[in-house]
Amino acid sequence: MINAKINGIPVQVAEGTTILDAARKVDVKIPTLCYNDDLEPWAACGICVVKSQGSAKMLRACCTPIDEGMSIITHDPDIVQTRKTVIELILSTHPDDCLACPRNQECELQRLAAEFGIREQPFPKMLRDIPIDDSTGSLILNPEKCIRCGRCVKVCQEMQNVWAIEFLGRGEKTRIAPAADVKLGEGPCIKCGQCSAHCPVGAIYENDQTGLVWDALMKEGAEAKTCVVQIAPAVRVALGEAFGLAPGTNLTRKIYTALRRLGFDVVFDTNFAADLTIMEEGTEFVKRFAAGEGALPLITSCCPAWVDYLEKYNGDMIPNFSTAKSPQQMMGAMIKTYWAQKAGIDPAKVYSVSIMPCTAKKFENARDRTMYSSGQKDVDVTLTTRELARMIKQAGIDLLNLPESDPDSPMGPNTGAGVIFGATGGVMEAALRTAYTLITGEELRDVNFTGVRGLSGIKEASIHIKGTEVRVAVAHQMGNIAQVLEMVRKAKAEGKETPWHFVEVMACRGGCIGGGGQPYGCTDEVRKMRIRGIYDADEASEYRCSHHNPLIKQIYSAFLEKPGSHKAHELLHTSYEARDLYLK
Ligand code: SF4
Ligand code: SF4
Ligand code: SF4
Ligand code: FES
Repeated sequence: MINAKINGIPVQVAEGTTILDAARKVDVKIPTLCYNDDLEPWAACGICVVKSQGSAKMLRACCTPIDEGMSIITHDPDIVQTRKTVIELILSTHPDDCLACPRNQECELQRLAAEFGIREQPFPKMLRDIPIDDSTGSLILNPEKCIRCGRCVKVCQEMQNVWAIEFLGRGEKTRIAPAADVKLGEGPCIKCGQCSAHCPVGAIYENDQTGLVWDALMKEGAEAKTCVVQIAPAVRVALGEAFGLAPGTNLTRKIYTALRRLGFDVVFDTNFAADLTIMEEGTEFVKRFAAGEGALPLITSCCPAWVDYLEKYNGDMIPNFSTAKSPQQMMGAMIKTYWAQKAGIDPAKVYSVSIMPCTAKKFENARDRTMYSSGQKDVDVTLTTRELARMIKQAGIDLLNLPESDPDSPMGPNTGAGVIFGATGGVMEAALRTAYTLITGEELRDVNFTGVRGLSGIKEASIHIKGTEVRVAVAHQMGNIAQVLEMVRKAKAEGKETPWHFVEVMACRGGCIGGGGQPYGCTDEVRKMRIRGIYDADEASEYRCSHHNPLIKQIYSAFLEKPGSHKAHELLHTSYEARDLYLK
């Protein structure tokens, strides 16, 4: 252990701890900008400077380990002036249009400028006139606002292993740009939105589509449509953060009320469609595992960023991919077929909105023709958690004091298996809960598969079903999947048995609770709290297995016939094709 002092306060930390983390341990905050808890520090901005007593040299706290006996000064007039100059220099190349910026009031640069009392800008303004890139439909890249902190590049390259963005140019001309200087939507970008979740300013942000939804909600007379909304599992445990609540606070039943107050006619819960996904994917697994029909391991397909990554980077694995659509798209298809039919409404007069933790879902809803299985676009618009928070605030809805309510039937009631889709390992756990019963005809005594929970990048577990060991793996954060796929490929090439029978993949760290459209400021601590909220909801559920959902059973007998039926395939399944990284 290292013994040192921060502003005279004794601190004991493990060897290798940075000055920044040592200071945090004694509740001293050192400002940071390029640093982010998810990333290795790379000391680009210089705002975190501190001094070691007896030396005039400034050290960058985010990347300098604290040494035995060091006495660190984090704040003196010299240090504060240096930090102020760093901010002023950044502001000299940054537009001053905060009022109209998508990050207004949520911007780390704006907050620092306010904290440091910046009133004047002493350096000449040198703005860069670079066009906005809105080519993905999911994200907007505005390089003019970029402060060159490098977080997005590190996220995209190191965490996600996608390499869709990079710095181009030199010196003052350095700019953030899609790789190879194409449009973002024409390159390898998988729309995961992790760059937007990590950008400290308004240089990369979600494509805000709240205007489209407001228009639909406000329409009257012949133009009006029945507005139907669904909310995803992960939204409920994160939305509260935009209203000052702790991560993990579960607002499910207040969100239903808020959605009705926004003007939605019908409120469904995507958890229900997650149960449907399990019935379809579980059946697919049983076919492959027990009947030997199809490639193993079966790989989950409910994350659209992962689907995009697989098609672009791993086309050879398509035979292993589940054909089941994501819960968002299953719900969309069911809204415009089963529900519209039951309600006696022309599907063309239904406006279907999804609230997701995810920017990639905006891309998914028009991914290919199978997303129009009702004959219409199954999900008209996807909003992220951040956009929903904005709408609730715009409408003057006091979310925290709203009465609670229930979702509409028949596609509202859901199970604990549906809600855990929001966390890494959740899809696998939900699938195992049902696959066990589908294969054995018996019920599990303990439905908790704790081995697939938590934030380890790759998790493995096994379960014995009828004397056979089912081996599963779970990977989250796109950069972790290569290792899993390489092991599968190696086994195939050597003619050996597959290392796993079932693999779950989610593009975002922590799964959807850490999605690119969730409230800003996500760290592993926040992820853990959101995950806790998800599993608490599971434990509190009346039913914890998808096949126990009484309304799922009803929908199969009244409409879909049986899991994996021809009709289920028409509405609830999709197909894939290998794609080039770059559009020609
Ligand atoms: S959305 Fe994901 S893949 Fe695309 S640039 Fe951002 S981090 Fe990279
Ligand atoms: S786009 Fe944002 S995250 Fe990326 S370098 Fe610029 S300011 Fe940093
Ligand atoms: S893990 Fe979830 S939030 Fe992230 S891209 Fe996939 S579906 Fe979207
Ligand atoms: S936060 Fe340490 S150099 Fe940027």
